[in-house]
Amino acid sequence: MKSVLVLNGPNLGRLGSREPEIYGAVTYAELVSLMSKTGSELGLEVETRQTNSEAELIDWIHAAVDSGTDVVLNPAAFTHYSYALRDAAAMVTKGGLKLIEVHLSNPHTREEFRHTSVISGVATGVIAGFGVQSYVLALRQLAS
Ligand code: DQA
Repeated sequence: MKSVLVLNGPNLGRLGSREPEIYGAVTYAELVSLMSKTGSELGLEVETRQTNSEAELIDWIHAAVDSGTDVVLNPAAFTHYSYALRDAAAMVTKGGLKLIEVHLSNPHTREEFRHTSVISGVATGVIAGFGVQSYVLALRQLAS
């Protein structure tokens, strides 16, 4: 069975209570269940993780490269400025694996600083603005 890592950056562990008018009412625990349920339906083995640490996120991406695992990544605020995360993401796609950048909100409709993603240029594709469905769509794409 094909494996997929769903990785979430800073503050996403607070999903459900953090600015629900922007990020929705689904909790992080519910996102984790939704990912495993969707994975089972699609025949994917999905593991979902969240960290507030840039270093940990980069280590997880290195491990994905080493194990040949596709990645769904919500880099959260790191999206907008982390060149270190971009370099790690580039290792995934340049190594022939897929990395789909996802966002719950559509950053382009929000503050100016959110309009730039330093990750998109090395991602396989980007899905934004559909709440937790952004993640479901990314899994569907990886399964297809
Ligand atoms: C986000 C958008 C980012 O700008 C923000 O910093 C986040 C979440 C999203 O999923 O909409 O933490 O990545």
